[in-house]
Amino acid sequence: MKLLALNASHRGDQGFTQRLLTYLLKGAQAGGAQTESLTLARLKINRCLACLKCQQAGERHLTCVYDQRDDVAMIFERMRNADILIYATPIYMMGISALLKTLLDRLYATMDCADIRLTQTGLLHHHVDAELSAKPFAYVVGCANLEAGMTANAVHYFRTYADFMDAPLVGELRRNATPLLANDDARRVRAVLAAYEQAGSELATEGRIRRPTQRRANQELVDVPLFGLLKRLPVMKPIIAHET
Ligand SMILES: Cc1cc2nc3c(=O)[nH]c(=O)nc-3n(C[C@H](O)[C@H](O)[C@H](O)COP(=O)(O)O)c2cc1C
Repeated sequence: MKLLALNASHRGDQGFTQRLLTYLLKGAQAGGAQTESLTLARLKINRCLACLKCQQAGERHLTCVYDQRDDVAMIFERMRNADILIYATPIYMMGISALLKTLLDRLYATMDCADIRLTQTGLLHHHVDAELSAKPFAYVVGCANLEAGMTANAVHYFRTYADFMDAPLVGELRRNATPLLANDDARRVRAVLAAYEQAGSELATEGRIRRPTQRRANQELVDVPLFGLLKRLPVMKPIIAHET
């Protein structure tokens, strides 16, 4: 089993995304998987120009104008060689990072959009490169905020991606309150990191993360009643101050 993690934090391997991935990959290695990690921030990923040259008939059909001019062909090759992909991204402005989106936009040049197809669930789509886009994947999203809604766009994005690409979604890890991960001594932080290790092991041995493990990995680091109380503190200022 080969696992490829794509770390899409703009802070590269200095951030909380990498911290979570480190535990996940440690578990995967203990479970017997071969693991590889790519830090997208260190690579050159040009943005899709939407020139549609990749969609034109002829010799360069499904070839990007950036072919061999940045690192995307190399990244796609590594993705093709993996059995499971892990997309790991911080939440930036309520969504996945621009780095990950820029990479995934480049999949367009690997798809024949004129070749209309049906997904397994009966959705209208088009040809995709199955070795690349229909590969089983898990996601790890991390954000600083405590509200569940903060990861909702990213969760929806990955689920929609899975539906339209016919890509099995084999794990959904959502970590809020990421700055609290810095506190290694906290009991819940240790429990979460242990769950990430367990999740990696399950990906290696069973090809998916079990629901109880996911629940432990996604558990709150701050007690919900405490969080509710925090919101009611008189020192909390509204974003928009109403005149009285
Ligand atoms: C440009 C930018 C935008 C961010 N937007 C959000 C946001 O909308 N919601 C949130 O909860 N955290 C937001 N954050 C915080 C990050 O999601 C959080 O700190 C995350 O753990 C960073 O991952 P990293 O340490 O791997 O870089 C933002 C951070 C940056 C740099």
